[in-house]
Amino acid sequence: MHRIALLGSTGSIGTSTLDVVRRLGEPFEIVSVAAGNNWEAVSRQIDEFRPRRAAMFQPEAAVALRQSLNGHPTEVLHGMEGICALACDPEVDIVIMGISGAAALPAAVEAVKAGKRVGLANKEVLVMAGEILNPLAHESGAEIIPVDSEHSALFQSLESGHHGEVSKLLLTASGGPFRETPIEEFGSITPEQALKHPTWDMGRKITIDSATMMNKSLEIIEARWLFDMPADKIDVVVHPQSIVHSMVEYCDGSVIAQLGLPDMRVPIQLAITYPRRMKSPVAPPDWSKIGELNFSKPDMEKFPSLKMGFRAAREGGTLGAVMNAANEIAVEMFFQRQINFLQIFALVESVMDTHEVNAKPSLEDVFAADTWAREQANKWVSKI
Ligand SMILES: NC(=O)c1ccc[n+]([C@@H]2O[C@H](COP(=O)([O-])OP(=O)(O)OC[C@H]3O[C@@H](n4cnc5c(N)ncnc54)[C@H](OP(=O)(O)O)[C@@H]3O)[C@@H](O)[C@H]2O)c1
Repeated sequence: MHRIALLGSTGSIGTSTLDVVRRLGEPFEIVSVAAGNNWEAVSRQIDEFRPRRAAMFQPEAAVALRQSLNGHPTEVLHGMEGICALACDPEVDIVIMGISGAAALPAAVEAVKAGKRVGLANKEVLVMAGEILNPLAHESGAEIIPVDSEHSALFQSLESGHHGEVSKLLLTASGGPFRETPIEEFGSITPEQALKHPTWDMGRKITIDSATMMNKSLEIIEARWLFDMPADKIDVVVHPQSIVHSMVEYCDGSVIAQLGLPDMRVPIQLAITYPRRMKSPVAPPDWSKIGELNFSKPDMEKFPSLKMGFRAAREGGTLGAVMNAANEIAVEMFFQRQINFLQIFALVESVMDTHEVNAKPSLEDVFAADTWAREQANKWVSKI
């Protein structure tokens, strides 16, 4: 059996993972699920998948979940400690990390230290602490397999050559819903407009990040650590159809890409079954219908988030954690209509500019930088 701990089971990645496992059947098994607050959904998942253990971040949600189980033997844990216990459970082989944001870091560290295969959907973890997680994975033998579609594409394309033969990692970007919107209109973009992504159906936070292209910035840093590639060997290409999920350019001029319809069940399934490929419900693209594929340079003036991503990837240290934390606050404030769309960029840049980068941080330093950046971001908002 391949025993799976699904962390973030109620979200977009979580429910897609359940769909993948439901279809794969044996020998793949969900042995634990974890979420933040949505105990009703977890209760339904327990009914269907019968995991041994579950964890809710919110203690009250754990109490409600326990009461809803009607004597079912699933053990219910709570808090980050409970989620970490699932991540390093000796009776787990694969951890799918679908918890959103910086909250995923403690459990990701535990999974890596315990030598698990980690199917990593969450990108914030590597943005904050890629430099720390890589040696930990090396020591424990943990395999970090990317689930993020672009990084899954790079992971697959990198199998065509050696690390030293790579001249560029080309991350494709749909460009989000405002690719063609004039910058003069950015200040009046509403959360409802920003939540309408043209090609991908995802959770709320990542959808806003796609609209600001902060998602691509996080992915630049993610790629930097995941594939041990310096920032100047990473580039972003706008590709509105989201069919080419990313590409690797080799020193002989060859470019290897992975293509497919935009459906997260494909990279999730590959992270679970790798190195094997298995049948999936996703059909290959119908080329006669797709027509054309377009590629262009991103507009870094309109989307200054990209410059911030390259800067954090170049400088390393605590700057990624700071960029990510400031962005998490900015997105929340945008949802609350405390700041407008353009101010997301201004807020994140301002917090990055005032940060004194610690070039070789410990995990504690990373958490401290995260807390500091959240405070600075909140101060920035209270001043406007
Ligand atoms: N969705 C995609 O297509 C996609 C693609 C690539 C990468 N990713 C990355 O994958 C991650 C998840 O994205 P998503 O779109 O699936 O997000 P989502 O739909 O918002 O789901 C987030 C999940 O995390 C759980 N969660 C939040 N805070 C938690 C905490 N403190 N402790 C435990 N669980 C917590 C939520 O539980 P509750 O429901 O109880 O709040 C939910 O299960 C993000 O890092 C995102 O960048 C997503």
